[in-house]
Amino acid sequence: MASTLFNASCSFPSIKVIDCKSYVGLRSNVSQVRVASLPVATSQRCSLVVRASNGHAKKLGRSDAECEAAVAAGDVPEAPPVPPKPAAPAGTPVIQPLNLNRRPRRNRASPTVRAAFQETDISPANFVYPLFIHEGEEDTPIGAMPGCYRLGWRHGLLQEVAKARAVGVNSIVLFPKVPEALKNPTGDEAYNDNGLVPRTIRLLKDKYPDLIIYTDVALDPYSSDGHDGIVREDGVIMNDETVHQLCKQAVSQARAGADVVSPSDMMDGRVGAIRAALDAEGFQNVSIMSYTAKYASSFYGPFREALDSNPRFGDKKTYQMNPANYREALIEAREDEAEGADILLVKPGLPYLDIIRLLRDKSPLPIAAYQVSGEYSMIKAGGVLKMIDEEKVMMESLMCLRRAGADIILTYFALQAATYLCNQKR
Ligand code: PBG
Repeated sequence: MASTLFNASCSFPSIKVIDCKSYVGLRSNVSQVRVASLPVATSQRCSLVVRASNGHAKKLGRSDAECEAAVAAGDVPEAPPVPPKPAAPAGTPVIQPLNLNRRPRRNRASPTVRAAFQETDISPANFVYPLFIHEGEEDTPIGAMPGCYRLGWRHGLLQEVAKARAVGVNSIVLFPKVPEALKNPTGDEAYNDNGLVPRTIRLLKDKYPDLIIYTDVALDPYSSDGHDGIVREDGVIMNDETVHQLCKQAVSQARAGADVVSPSDMMDGRVGAIRAALDAEGFQNVSIMSYTAKYASSFYGPFREALDSNPRFGDKKTYQMNPANYREALIEAREDEAEGADILLVKPGLPYLDIIRLLRDKSPLPIAAYQVSGEYSMIKAGGVLKMIDEEKVMMESLMCLRRAGADIILTYFALQAATYLCNQKR
């Protein structure tokens, strides 16, 4: 499914002038070779059939030596003339060319040249598709995220996954909308083996065994307080007690068949604790994608509407990172690496390209970028209002996340962008 944004054309590799002013395109491993004659005087034309057998072209007509001798004797075959210089518009100043020994535009002069020197590629294999699920049977549109729905876990979800797989997106991450009645201050529904997420994983794995399922590990969809951790009376988010719950949540997801558990809660020490809990239950092969540098960002607004998971009070600034901080991402990355994370994630994406680049340069681990709900909705809104070209801005923003160093991208555009990439392919 690999595909580049600009595919090189697949024409015949070489054109050789053989004889009698005929241009013959030769292609190895093809027995019948195309012969194209240039319009020349009929008397001069030799009809030429070239057959390539075992890769060797048998030639007819004059020998190489005869051709060379003819040229040496001044009998030079004709070739098309050099085209005239294209005219500049009237009024163009006549100037001395600048004396430049480097003109970078030479390497951008044509689609072929640009494709040859393109440094970054993007393919549907790089995408992870975040999907919202609920207990309902209908798909409910999410107002703040045009094109996104809370999908019925037994209906709409299966269709959406099938569509994604058809264009090469075989990785998804699940976000549940949990019934209010099941939420409590300690988020215990998070580790219910028969809860919405484990049930959905079992259904998906039954239907698509090779689908890679990422899960979110955090209490917010299950917490009556809307926080990622347990909230103490005085408003403090309790770290170690929350980690205890997260371990149970991760194990429950792994038991259902999750491939990659993804702690997005930003508690200290949760990666190591989850690794130990998974291993103790025999889930050595389940990966951990850590939300290493997750910032306390206003770009998550639409997501919280989607899941109805807004914090009931306060904000998430005691666990999510300060958007003003850069070096702090390194502290988190070192911890996550030491604790055994398999993938490091940066979130949000586009406003945090410097953090993606930082982790890419400082860690050998794969890097994930999350193009979050607010980034998605801004591009959608700009497109709907005809202020920007939605498709082009979508592809450019995804390419920029790759250029900054992201291996994989969690994006609500996964299906749309992969469809675009597949249509680019020939
Ligand atoms: C919560 C979680 C959030 C997102 C992913 N997991 C929201 C939050 O931290 O409040 C946001 C994703 C998005 O905005 O697209 N653990």
